[in-house]
Amino acid sequence: MARTFASSFSPLPLAALISLTGLTSLTMGAAGCTIGSDFDPGEIEFEPDRPELSESDDPDPYTGDDEIVLEAQSQFRTGLDVHQKIIWRTCTPFDGVCHNSKEFPDLRTPANFVKAFGANCNVQYGEYESVYDRCERPGDRFRISGGGYESGQIEIGWIESIAGDYYQGEDLPPEDSPGLHIHLADPMPGEQTKVYTSGGFERTFITDGEVKDFTFANYTTLWYILPGRTHVIGEVREYQGDQVQELLSVGIIEGDANRNGTLGAREGDPIHMLSAGDPENSYLIARLRGVMSGEEVPGSRMPLANQPLSIAEMLALFCLVETIPEDPGEADLARAVDYAGCSYSADPAGLNLLGEGVTWAARIEKVLEYNCSGCHNEITPEADLALIGEGVYERLLEPSQQNPALNLIEPGEPESSYLYLKITGHEDIVGNPMPYNPLTGEGTLTQAEIADIETWIINGAIEDE
Ligand code: HEC
Repeated sequence: MARTFASSFSPLPLAALISLTGLTSLTMGAAGCTIGSDFDPGEIEFEPDRPELSESDDPDPYTGDDEIVLEAQSQFRTGLDVHQKIIWRTCTPFDGVCHNSKEFPDLRTPANFVKAFGANCNVQYGEYESVYDRCERPGDRFRISGGGYESGQIEIGWIESIAGDYYQGEDLPPEDSPGLHIHLADPMPGEQTKVYTSGGFERTFITDGEVKDFTFANYTTLWYILPGRTHVIGEVREYQGDQVQELLSVGIIEGDANRNGTLGAREGDPIHMLSAGDPENSYLIARLRGVMSGEEVPGSRMPLANQPLSIAEMLALFCLVETIPEDPGEADLARAVDYAGCSYSADPAGLNLLGEGVTWAARIEKVLEYNCSGCHNEITPEADLALIGEGVYERLLEPSQQNPALNLIEPGEPESSYLYLKITGHEDIVGNPMPYNPLTGEGTLTQAEIADIETWIINGAIEDE
């Protein structure tokens, strides 16, 4: 019997197929700038009151007196400003992540930024742990028919190829046996456990307004149906290896891409990278905040920014996304952002990335106390700097001894805050990076601690009680 891999009924060339699925190949990896997982930004406390979309290119400006809104309006007047000053600044050639198309869409151009509206989020074969359930789309379907067996179409949960010599035993292969593993959303009917036949991969396309099911690939082999009947293993002999690789490279849509047992699309509508009118259900924004609808979003928290966004920048992004029309084009970015209509202008402080719990009293003061006050104590402080007790906050706003040109903390400017330079081991510091470890000569705070101090400084280094 000839064993061929063929797109038996392929009305579209492979490339067209891939492009039809849009941004399928973009995945959000766990790499990038990591901010601690103990982060918990506050819920946005008010129900956003969605504005009427303004028809005019120049909506009436915001005339209230909230300083954050006024700052956002003057610095990020249009969508192009938001792109250029907020999104683009995270695209620096060395540290930027926004151009890393493996993890994120390439957002360097306004055209690409606009394409992120309505685009699917991360669902790609591989790097599955960082896929968010709500990004999962309805999976492609798998079906085996022939050899006296007919399974019907069953949604694919996830698919994996395990390399190695094919199984040659008499019984069913073990669960982690080499082969093409297909995990299904629902069990295969019947009792049969071994079938030598063709396995078809099917997808629904909408062409010219007509909904059609197409088999976009076939793989003929010996299929084992394991107990429970939701796990199927297709035998892959050496000469079939290329066929399987080719099959996987098509980008089969997995309904449970993160393999956690929840098929996101069955639970609700899949979300998009950016959703016009709905910043809170926009994946890129959720990745900045680390949460969506009170639920943690997997992956590192700062996908776009090497530096956390200030409240004014968050507001600009929220208001742009909230007030941009559906299916925006580049021209829509040139319009002034409608800050007056934007519901978040009512309470921009609610967008603070710092969130609850990462305040001076609850977090920053404690980080200093736990990590620094052994040496920077009240009685005989090193460098004449006490980082515990009364008056610490006031002292931090004063000049450093080692570099009197800089204050220890400069609200809004981590790079001009000498204490921040000391904890990040900046090359311009005098003495050692802090916290100093006398045994090894070095020592460091965790990434999360440093990131929290940085975000706190960026947002004004405010002392709360
Ligand atoms: C093991 C003792 C030790 C620990 C722990 C320590 N420091 Fe220091 N710190 C020193 C010494 C000694 C100096 C002066 C020499 C130097 O800078 O290397 C200093 C200097 C500094 C200075 C410079 C002060 C100025 O006015 O210019 C800053 C800022 C500082 N430390 C911050 C911190 C912070 C923040 C922590 C905790 C995250 C920390 N230190 C933990 C011993 C320590």
